[in-house]
Amino acid sequence: GQIEKGGYPHFMLKEIFEQPECLTNCMRGRVNVEATNVTLSAVIDYKKQLLSAKRIIIVGCGTSWHAGLIGKQIIESLCRIPVEVEYASEFRYRNPVVTDKDIVVAISQSGETADTLAAVRLAKQCGAFIYGICNVIGASIPRATDTGSYIHVGPEIGVASTKAFTGQVTVLTMLALALAKERGTVDDDTYFSIVRELSVIPQKMQETLELNDRIAMLSRIFTYARNFLYLGRGYNYPVALEGALKLKEISYIHAEGYPAAEMKHGPIALIDSDMPVVVIATRNSMYEKVLSNIQEIKARKGKVIALVTKGDDTISKMVDEVIELPDTQECLEPLVATIPLQLLAYHIAVCKGKNVDQPRNLAKSVTVE
Ligand code: G6P
Repeated sequence: GQIEKGGYPHFMLKEIFEQPECLTNCMRGRVNVEATNVTLSAVIDYKKQLLSAKRIIIVGCGTSWHAGLIGKQIIESLCRIPVEVEYASEFRYRNPVVTDKDIVVAISQSGETADTLAAVRLAKQCGAFIYGICNVIGASIPRATDTGSYIHVGPEIGVASTKAFTGQVTVLTMLALALAKERGTVDDDTYFSIVRELSVIPQKMQETLELNDRIAMLSRIFTYARNFLYLGRGYNYPVALEGALKLKEISYIHAEGYPAAEMKHGPIALIDSDMPVVVIATRNSMYEKVLSNIQEIKARKGKVIALVTKGDDTISKMVDEVIELPDTQECLEPLVATIPLQLLAYHIAVCKGKNVDQPRNLAKSVTVE
């Protein structure tokens, strides 16, 4: 009823708006700004096992798999250890090469997804060390793992995952920082600047949530689109995948996420004046390249909704709609850039009169194959 929804019309909107608070809870006792360090009890307790690994394999499904793709980039960049990301459903039937030199990180909001649980059991038989990143305390996956870190974002009711995703990305970031420090693969400046920035991410998410009214307005323009393309690069490529997934899940509009540079190898053929393209074009190391992708879309009359860094007046002049995000560290951009995409999917689904919290054909947790 209304009480559990805290005055919001849907659980999904409530959960989107809870994110700053959820991430504060997720980082509590773990990110210490005064001491400028990150502590995860699992990394302290299982330091030996975690430091002896030669490779990390991340498994998950759906939104959790998207979080894994971001985790791979942060872990590889800070820890200099190879990371693979696999759909749990593929991994489990592939007779994968897994040994006692591997850490398998299983990501699951519910902790009950059948494929992810089976992947954990298989990896364990192969001798890997299993680290869970889950939300539901005491669920099957956390019980089957050797150790792990809960995301502590509270119950997620909406079928489309929102706060669990940003919680998962936050735990993966803390894991990367804690491991990198132990491994000695990160310099102090990089480490401290990410820790500091992570601690203010809830404020930046709060700022981003203020875009809600603007996104509700612009959603009306795009409610009748038949297709959507989402583009991003680097850390924001998985954000594009996640944005497209949210739209598919709740508004039933066909949407595809793509790494921006791959557009020329196919999706560009689809672009005409009926094609909305959401581009994550924040001011980071990929800025110039993404900017030229936007020019290519505009030359073909595509409609561009650009997510830019606040104060960017170059891209603003080129595109149809602009969403301004607070500036942050490149590796933390997904935590803010995801929010407008959640809101966009939400408002389009509401405009279409769809059942936002319980979309057709989908289940909150898929406990059978
Ligand atoms: C279902 C849900 C998704 C979720 C996926 C994985 O498809 O609808 O929102 O991302 O399962 O769930 P998990 O609980 O393992 O994260």
